[in-house]
Amino acid sequence: MAANKKLLMLPGDGIGPEVMKQVQTIIDWMDKRRHVSFDVTNDVVGGAAIDKYGQPLGDNTLADAMGVDAVLLGAVGGPKWDNVERDLRPEMGLLTLRKEMDLYANLRPATVLPAMAKASSLKEELVSGLDMLIVRELTGGVYFGKPRGIEKLADGTRKAVDTQVYSEAEIERVCRLAFELAGKRSGKVHSVEKANVMETGVLWRQIATEIGADFPDIDLHHMYADNCAMQLVRQPKQFDVIVTDNLFGDILSDCAAMLTGSLGMLPSASLGAADSDGRRKALYEPVHGSAPDIAGQGIANPLAMIQSFAMCLKYSFDMGEDADLIEQACKNVLDAGLRTPDILEAGMTKISTTDMGDHVTKELDKLSA
Ligand code: IPM
Ligand code: MG
Repeated sequence: MAANKKLLMLPGDGIGPEVMKQVQTIIDWMDKRRHVSFDVTNDVVGGAAIDKYGQPLGDNTLADAMGVDAVLLGAVGGPKWDNVERDLRPEMGLLTLRKEMDLYANLRPATVLPAMAKASSLKEELVSGLDMLIVRELTGGVYFGKPRGIEKLADGTRKAVDTQVYSEAEIERVCRLAFELAGKRSGKVHSVEKANVMETGVLWRQIATEIGADFPDIDLHHMYADNCAMQLVRQPKQFDVIVTDNLFGDILSDCAAMLTGSLGMLPSASLGAADSDGRRKALYEPVHGSAPDIAGQGIANPLAMIQSFAMCLKYSFDMGEDADLIEQACKNVLDAGLRTPDILEAGMTKISTTDMGDHVTKELDKLSA
């Protein structure tokens, strides 16, 4: 079959390359067993790009990212580049990709598989069966607002400025997508901001309410971000879809990730606007970072990366069935008690990053036999 699905793989730094390798294993399996070919290009991003190109995102890398159907990214950053100036930091590679590709909606699903409920830091009954989705605005807010910077004042002390700014259009498009997604789930949206303190919060709440009027079947709740953080650890199963700004989404999604037992379990999809054919620019990456402390040891959990690839199949290639198959395979491996160290529990078998990829592939074999 002709390779017509163009993927750009950017493994990045730290554990990024190790977990990305497991996606390649699955792609090879799909090629052989399901006769689905991907046209895969590899490149570097983040610290690896600083080392290779002198900048965290090469110009050609960005051009390639704009031209492919989907980008898969591992993770960026590490102590080696901690002291480079801010504009050249590894994280800027990722932020530039998000901004240039206009990936305004970041979908971060947090689900707790039955086999994983005990691995959560919360009581099992609080998280068992959890299935929520954080929709994080990804190209606006304080991450990109101007003015920003650190300046020296006349008295010799320094002052730092960040700017939280949101236009109506920016809030509208991400809220609309959140409502659409909620329509395919259990039909509840929590719009999260700090309208009690912030002007952007006031506007966010107004617009969420206006968009909500177009979706009468969706149950809309407004919640302050601090309360949301508390509710996430108090009673997480009250949530279905949370839609929130860039910074609150960053924080709340780390919190939601931990409910599932490990940061190593959470995938994400970052989507741009749909074109006339319904195609969106898209980037898929695990929520976890580069974890430099465990990089190169073969112990990283590749499941968030593998499930990010499953999201890619679903959202970029309309291959929901294959995505479900991969998710089921991951689930079966966990049910069999096979665990990387981050999710290891008493009585279970500790396996490596590569073993995890191999076991998922073996399950795929069984499921599609
Ligand atoms: C995330 C990360 C990034 C962010 C960093 C690496 C720039 O924490 O994707 O959640 O803050 O958005
Ligand atoms: Mg984060």
